Amino acid sequence: MKLSVVILAAGKGTRMLSELPKVLHQIGGKCMLSHVVAAAKALNPEQIIIVHGDNKDIMQAHLNDPQVLWAHQKEQKGTGDAVAAAMPLVSKGNRVLSLVGDVPLIEPATLRRLHDGTPAQALGLLTATVDNPHGLGRILRNDSNEVEAIKEQKDATPEQAQIKEINTGIFLLPYQHLQSWLPRLSNNNAQQEYYLTDVVQMAVHDGVAIHTEVPSRTEEILGINNRAQLVAAERSYQLKIAAHFLEEGVLIIDPARFDVRGELHAGLDVTIDINCVIEGQVTLGNQVKIGPNCILKNCHIEDGAQVLSHSHIEGAHIGQGATVGPFARIRPGTKLAQQARVGNFVEVKNAQIGPGSKVNHLTYLGDAIIGKSVNIGAGTITCNYDGASKHQTTIEDGAHIGSNCSLVAPVHVGEGATIAASSILTKDAPAHQLTLTHRLEQRSLSWQRPEKEKNNQKEMM
Ligand code: UD1
Ligand code: MG
Repeated sequence: MKLSVVILAAGKGTRMLSELPKVLHQIGGKCMLSHVVAAAKALNPEQIIIVHGDNKDIMQAHLNDPQVLWAHQKEQKGTGDAVAAAMPLVSKGNRVLSLVGDVPLIEPATLRRLHDGTPAQALGLLTATVDNPHGLGRILRNDSNEVEAIKEQKDATPEQAQIKEINTGIFLLPYQHLQSWLPRLSNNNAQQEYYLTDVVQMAVHDGVAIHTEVPSRTEEILGINNRAQLVAAERSYQLKIAAHFLEEGVLIIDPARFDVRGELHAGLDVTIDINCVIEGQVTLGNQVKIGPNCILKNCHIEDGAQVLSHSHIEGAHIGQGATVGPFARIRPGTKLAQQARVGNFVEVKNAQIGPGSKVNHLTYLGDAIIGKSVNIGAGTITCNYDGASKHQTTIEDGAHIGSNCSLVAPVHVGEGATIAASSILTKDAPAHQLTLTHRLEQRSLSWQRPEKEKNNQKEMM
């Protein structure tokens, strides 16, 4: 039997106190809704239908997925009404897996178990036993331990509120029965909403079997209704990712101080020190070492390269055995070849740095092509911007740029050229020659440095 997944995402999420719809808040750099869609896709359903409110445009801007269908719930009258809003799009006869957009950490394996364990005509329920069930629907069972109903917190008696088995919000629903149950829901409850949870009593009444499953880990079913729950889920997600990488041979020095906001691919014997943030698509080769407090965004770092502490790398390719940092900023369009070195307080933007070349201190390189075995002295600046356009600096193999030089682009430094310290290049420098620009004469005079008077010194303190 084919499967349709319905994801409820039309609720206002008032407890988040945010302009952004709740399900668009992010975990691990991806909106909650996209986590749920990814889990749903792992089951290869025939359709995925998202139920939205009056915010389709912003939802689609965050989740631009042509495989997803969108159903409009005109008024947010409850989870039962939300499923009803999706029904016109559900292929006739399909089983319906109803997910909630604010339970983002649900694992495909758990959904698969619920799906495979529930007989085709039965009602499947994912429940969990939690220490603090406050705010959640409670599972009521009879003396034979069969599920009888779900009671929302606001409708529960004090005894029912003691129950720790809760509704995760995830249901597997048989099509024919669902069609007959949805119109029979009433909003005669504390919240005056049409609760999806009331289908459980109807199933009992209609003699439909109820099958329950529990998630592999309770963290999977954390529902997010406010920011405290959002950050708790974020940490739970990050700990899971860290555990995965530890299993894959990556040394995450402290899993509690590790953040992936996107996708990380890492080889063997990689070390990632504390407080690193990994964003977008990041690939680390074998034996890569990332020091503490680094930010890596959309970059590719090859085997044996090292990124030392406090470095920020974005949109760059770092070659084999290259070294970056500490305190380096590598901006988009940068390519470091193998064994290249970029040291402290160096900013590099849209530049290629050739094999074995060194830019060790206090430098800005923008729009530059630098050959192999070049040495760039401290304080070198490529003056790449004339206020209107960017211009290129080219430095050929083996050149040596002295400290504190300004290279006014467009400019070309020939192979093996030496540029004397403090030169301002406005013209090309020929290969294998020393180029130096006008220098101030150095003079020395006898000189007595003024001294502070002792009394004054006291007053100043
Ligand atoms: C719901 C369940 C509760 C369960 C909990 C698990 C009901 C009545 N209650 O409560 O038993 O323990 O989830 O997290 O089902 N939504 C709509 N349209 C609406 C209302 C809600 O699309 O009219 C969506 C929301 O966007 C959200 C989901 O349904 O993604 C759940 O709604 P929410 O208001 O968060 O319900 P809970 O109070 O968490
Ligand atoms: Mg909720």
